[in-house]
Amino acid sequence: MANPPTVQSPAHPSGDNRFKLLDRAITKHHGRGDALIEVLHAAQEIFGFLEDDLMIYVARALKRPLSQVYGVATFYHFFRLKPNGEHVFVLCMGTACYVKGAAAIQDAVEHRCGAKFGETTEDNKVSLISARCVGSCGLAPVAVLDNAVAGKLTTESAVGKVDAWKRSGEEVAV
Ligand code: FES
Repeated sequence: MANPPTVQSPAHPSGDNRFKLLDRAITKHHGRGDALIEVLHAAQEIFGFLEDDLMIYVARALKRPLSQVYGVATFYHFFRLKPNGEHVFVLCMGTACYVKGAAAIQDAVEHRCGAKFGETTEDNKVSLISARCVGSCGLAPVAVLDNAVAGKLTTESAVGKVDAWKRSGEEVAV
């Protein structure tokens, strides 16, 4: 049986490696009736929210009109078009990451932030988002911290990152 075709998305000029993760999701869902929603879900999990640039990329890759992509993204309340916080901490809670300790990282980060995943800290510094699998299972446990995939996370490194974000511009409230 032939392998499914690989989608050739246009290379992203930013060089941002997260687009490679998105390409995998596009290849996986391409041709399915619900491809647009599934790919937008994947895009939001990888990037934290759906900015215009991302919707243009998805529209081109799936060969859909941008108006349709934008329409779906704005119709469903679970899609976010803007980050709520200054920084976005996307923690992967997929199976590989979960068995490597993602739950402990989640607890530690929530404790430090005083906010749950799915929420933004009161000072608007950090939005906490859970993802299923961001496609880097070999590096588990994994998070996407603003623009970068961070692998082999520990509770200490995760909390350290949050502290650094919170320190930028003001003292850390401990
Ligand atoms: S399960 Fe976390 S990257 Fe795959």
